[in-house]
Amino acid sequence: MTDPLWFKDAVFYELHVKAFHDGNGDGIGDFRGLIEKLDYLEWLGVTCLWLLPFFPSPLRDDGYDVANYVSIAPDYGSLEDFREFLDEAHKRGMRVIVDLVLNHTSDQHPWFQEARSSPQSAKRDYYVWSDTDKRYQKARIIFIDTEKSNWTWDPVAQAYYWHRFFSHQPDLNYDNPVLQQAMLDIMSFWLDQGLDGFRCDAVPYLFEREGTICENLPETHAYLKKIRKRIDEAYQGRILLAEANQWPADVRPYFGEGDEFHMAFHFPLMPRLFLGVRSEDWHPIVDMFTHTPPIPDNCQWCLFLRNHDELTLEMCAGEERDYMYYAYARDPLMRRNIGIARRLAPLLDNDRRKIELLNSLVFTLPGSPIIYYGDEIGMGDNVHLGDRNGVRTPMQWSADRNGGFSKTDPSKLYLPAISDSVYGFNVTNVESQRQAPHSLLHWMRQMIARRKQQPAFGRGALTFLRPKNDRVLAHIREHGGNLLLLVHNLAGSAQSVDLDLGPFEGRVPVELLGGSRFPVISKRPYVLSLAPYGFYWFNLEQKPGDDLSYGMEGSVL
Ligand code: BGC
Repeated sequence: MTDPLWFKDAVFYELHVKAFHDGNGDGIGDFRGLIEKLDYLEWLGVTCLWLLPFFPSPLRDDGYDVANYVSIAPDYGSLEDFREFLDEAHKRGMRVIVDLVLNHTSDQHPWFQEARSSPQSAKRDYYVWSDTDKRYQKARIIFIDTEKSNWTWDPVAQAYYWHRFFSHQPDLNYDNPVLQQAMLDIMSFWLDQGLDGFRCDAVPYLFEREGTICENLPETHAYLKKIRKRIDEAYQGRILLAEANQWPADVRPYFGEGDEFHMAFHFPLMPRLFLGVRSEDWHPIVDMFTHTPPIPDNCQWCLFLRNHDELTLEMCAGEERDYMYYAYARDPLMRRNIGIARRLAPLLDNDRRKIELLNSLVFTLPGSPIIYYGDEIGMGDNVHLGDRNGVRTPMQWSADRNGGFSKTDPSKLYLPAISDSVYGFNVTNVESQRQAPHSLLHWMRQMIARRKQQPAFGRGALTFLRPKNDRVLAHIREHGGNLLLLVHNLAGSAQSVDLDLGPFEGRVPVELLGGSRFPVISKRPYVLSLAPYGFYWFNLEQKPGDDLSYGMEGSVL
């Protein structure tokens, strides 16, 4: 039997079927196209794919406005195509999770159409209705760019309906046990196809209660535990990953006692990684772990740098938020909602050293890393596209027409491919990077492979060393007697650091990428020099190895 805790060692890869590869030449990515690229993903070494919503949808929120939960949007293929894709991914040792949009549907969903048609309709109670827009006033508005209220008047229903996101996304009413069951059945439908789990969208908002902020309510946790129970009873080895953009203390309950979510994104850490490198200071990063409570043994954090949304600053307040905007989005065109809609490479000025440094941090801090499609080759963005579309452009496979994404007329693409002179598909693409042994793509592949060789990355305990030089972040990961020492220079200048490695006296740091042995650790401070944005991954080996000389030198003739 496979290890039910597989997700602790996994390297995730997030992609949109629409954006990955177009198999039928209509300008929109599809499952047939994705199947053709599975060999690439296997070569890269990622072990679990997270697919963004691919269900029928009017696409007013890129598929998070679901109009049918148990079907595939025709543009992306058929259920048969999906099954074939899943089989092919499994054959290559990759698992697949998809988005489960629990909180709301599209207003085009037949449930909503029926619900609004009459107060007597069987589906009326699937949604949250009111005669007034004054209920639940303490709930914040999430999409402040576009929404003025969480209530919208529906002239057909002659009532207000509740929505935490866009007004075309009415919230489902989880006080209704029939709806609760309907969502469990939808989950079973996909799990029965062989799916490995769900990234559960927007989970803090399932229930509403007067006088509260309508987030993280006990009723919400009780329902989520029911979902988990169904998984444990009938679908062992499948996982639930929570999207709860909250402070760690509020995310902690989503793990329950190991009986709610298997995984949750660490949202507040993400901007602190960018802050740490920009301010050349380890404190924002280390402080975030001080605020992160321990989680049950059978649970795991998910660490990420970028995803399909804006780089959210909801978990940064005051000066930190201002600094992030100042440092990473001086041009207002780059801002969306409370955040920055940019990809990794442009955020980091396409500085390969910083890109590697930040990737190294998400690969070595506690949790499983997620790579957003295209970031492994340093794809760019297009801030002129509306909403968050600037980071959702076609994957760049080659310098061919449309970056090898589609054979169609470029004007028919679902979004224009990036074509500028730095990040455009002519220069930034998979094919050219596969041919260049020192490309970012090869580097990412190598780091993924190294990470997979060291279970301590996914499962080890964490200790920060807190050196006096606050430009150097140093941490230890320890698992089953294995000790890893990770040292990152967050600064754009060379640094020297003294580390107190006294407890590891007698061990020898062996650099993991090149295999070089460093001086043995003694009681004295361990001095390391690091290049600008440089970092080391060391294995602290138990005892000094054998004499490293080889050949005839030193032998008795
Ligand atoms: C998704 C967003 C989406 C929102 C509403 C999220 O948290 O990541 O892309 O717009 O949910 O469904």
